[in-house]
Amino acid sequence: AGGENFDMVIFGGVGDLATRKLLPALYYLNRDGHFLSHSRVIACGRSGLAREAFQAHAEQACRRYVRAADLDDSALQSFLQRLDYVRVDAAEKSHFEALAETLNRQDPDRTRVYFLATRPDLFASLCENMSAAGLNTAASRVVLEKPLGTDLASANEINCRVGAVFAEEQIFRIDHYLGKETVQNLMALRFGNALFEPLWRRTNISDVQITVAEQVGVEGRADYYDSTGAMRDMVQNHLLQLLCMFAMEPPCSNEANAVRDEKLKVLRALKPLVGQAALSHTVRGQYRAGAINGQAVPGYLDEDGVATDSSTETYALIKAHVDTWRWAGVPFYLRSGKRLAERRAEIVVNFRPVPLNIFSKDMGSLPVNRMVIRLHPDEGVRLNVLAKQPGPAMRLKPVSLHLDFASTFKVRPLDAYERLLTEVIRGNLTLFMRNDELEAAWRWVDPIIAAWQDSGEPPRSYNAGSWGPSSAVSLLARDGMVWHEEVEDAR
Ligand code: BG6
Repeated sequence: AGGENFDMVIFGGVGDLATRKLLPALYYLNRDGHFLSHSRVIACGRSGLAREAFQAHAEQACRRYVRAADLDDSALQSFLQRLDYVRVDAAEKSHFEALAETLNRQDPDRTRVYFLATRPDLFASLCENMSAAGLNTAASRVVLEKPLGTDLASANEINCRVGAVFAEEQIFRIDHYLGKETVQNLMALRFGNALFEPLWRRTNISDVQITVAEQVGVEGRADYYDSTGAMRDMVQNHLLQLLCMFAMEPPCSNEANAVRDEKLKVLRALKPLVGQAALSHTVRGQYRAGAINGQAVPGYLDEDGVATDSSTETYALIKAHVDTWRWAGVPFYLRSGKRLAERRAEIVVNFRPVPLNIFSKDMGSLPVNRMVIRLHPDEGVRLNVLAKQPGPAMRLKPVSLHLDFASTFKVRPLDAYERLLTEVIRGNLTLFMRNDELEAAWRWVDPIIAAWQDSGEPPRSYNAGSWGPSSAVSLLARDGMVWHEEVEDAR
């Protein structure tokens, strides 16, 4: 159970993120005993809602987004009792005083978490008005939700203005991928086992494929997505964070700054992709009409709210290099897209071939060892090793050693937001991005986006329900590589 009473304030309290993710996650935390009896959740928004109306909203959110089997009436009532609502317009100073009054009704020294689940252009004024109303107490933390800027300059501005109010140690920048169980397990796998570390380098690994494929389209968020695109929405944050966790040097402890220092070094070691190099190392795609699971779906340009001549990419592939002694020469293929064939997120590690094939009489060439670290749909780790097929001939076949987290541990995995909110309440920054990480990620991404814009070329089309543009296959083929889904032993 949680150790202390706290207050959590959610700006954007009836918004999409709060409704779909934060309220359900807080329901679970309360049900599972992580709230002491006087902890409160205070939602803030521009509309004037009575407390009861907000409680009704939260109840609906839980009924819709918490698994039915986990929804128990007394837990729900106990959660709803903790909720309050205060009307706050980001530009209205007096509203912050009303909020201060509500907060000060309880011990003002308790832990306070301010979760900014609003548009990022409000972050700075929210923080400044909080500060003016004396809300930034010593035990306060602020949580920033992505998108954290649209380029280096705007990210810098957010960092500076929020940083003028809160110290870096009070700022929790969320990348919800870091809250996923498998990403945590990547730490366990790499630094809890002596087995893998000697293999984790260029001498043994030929290439790494990091895929976050989604079947969904823009899901009614065209106003955000059409000005954002896959590179800013997914690659700049989620995929680069996965890359960092995979490629970083062993940190000397599990402390926040020890881990974040190592991640930062990976971001700084990314070989810059500028101009022509950016174009030849990337593929940008946009889906046209097609079918997902047998259902016809419209093309991106026909989605509601998307400009009919939009050149926003819904798919991005980047061949990246981490220029360090450990990784020099190893391609990291990062790709993410909407309306792809499957919802699948995974890191595929291809190992180098054996130096000498002594079975060549029976088998021309041997498949390579492969490790698949999967985040979706089934969380787990699969290691393909070659084994002899029963029978008279010496024929080898890849078979998989498979660790399936759900069936091994038989407990409900925490949702990413449940874990991250718990970490914020505990004050542990390990799973959050530091300002310099965020800036280093933008510094690498900006020239790629600039090269795409300068080229004037539209994104390549791909059918909804496919694995992306055909040039994604040819980009790997040039290197003599193939995508994981094309390999026979993929599953
Ligand atoms: C969000 C993106 O950060 O991550 C969405 O804005 C995307 O576009 C989502 O759909 C994917 O998250 P998950 O956890 O469903 O893989």
